[in-house]
Amino acid sequence: MTHIRKAVFPVAGLGTRFLPATKSIPKEMLPLIDRPLIQYAIDEARESGIEEFIFISATGKTALEDYFCSARMLEQDLEARGKTTLLQRLKDTQIDDDALTILRQDRPLGLGHAVRLAKRAVGDEPFAVMLPDDVIRADQPALSQMVEAYRLCEGHLVATMTVPREQTSNYGILDVNGQLGRLTNAQGLVEKPRPDIAPSCEAVVGRYILAPSIFDRLDEIRPGAGGELQLTDAINADSQKIPVHGYRFAGQRFDCGSQVGFVAATLAYAQDRPELRSVINPGTRDRSRDLCQNASQIPNRIGDPYR
Ligand code: G1P
Repeated sequence: MTHIRKAVFPVAGLGTRFLPATKSIPKEMLPLIDRPLIQYAIDEARESGIEEFIFISATGKTALEDYFCSARMLEQDLEARGKTTLLQRLKDTQIDDDALTILRQDRPLGLGHAVRLAKRAVGDEPFAVMLPDDVIRADQPALSQMVEAYRLCEGHLVATMTVPREQTSNYGILDVNGQLGRLTNAQGLVEKPRPDIAPSCEAVVGRYILAPSIFDRLDEIRPGAGGELQLTDAINADSQKIPVHGYRFAGQRFDCGSQVGFVAATLAYAQDRPELRSVINPGTRDRSRDLCQNASQIPNRIGDPYR
């Protein structure tokens, strides 16, 4: 049985869609209710058995790096005041020094370039890649579902969902060979194809379990879509040599790299919180709703949570 111990988190992006907030706050630190985006990915990773965390960051993202360190003064203060729930929440953000690697991507050369930087830290074992912009709300964490599925298929496994054809140019798209339950066998992948030439509507979502051979392919590929080194192209190059599968996870995915996705995720996670639910559900009247004067103007559903 393959144990997936390590996960790579590419977090070097500039987050220009959230300027001016991201002028001084890394986009991964923007809060979804009360947890920053990165915490959702870390929690999902931990619940999926990940023990080592490798972040591909960028110069200037010190707020993100500080976030993983212990905050002793704050902890002592909370402890002295008996605030155990808050203290635990704070401790959950910490990653032990020996489980944490932070590398820097000094040039924006693409996702493939970011993952390639993790070669030495990962070594010769299958590993996970998690894109924190893609937040997945699920009963069983999406990565944990994939770890279980990986026992059946080995090779490279990517999370997938079916998208409307007009959206294929936003995603990596599978060239589908066959389908068995949630598993799609792929004979190739294309990064951001135009709808008229997309081989299917089965799109890659930001969760991957990759065999270490991906690093050799990442060394070989040339810049692709957008002039960047694409992880999709490296997986495609390997598809002639080892199995490549998509996994249709159970859950709801939000593209928190976009404003509409971020708002949709905030509303969805608010539904999980009794103290917030009534504020966003018209018709459920209680005191918390009275506190929000504009509650009736907040939609309780966003049509397309994907883009
Ligand atoms: C990246 C990947 C793409 C994938 C997408 C999922 O694209 O390159 O294959 O479908 O994430 O979110 P990006 O959205 O970073 O352009």
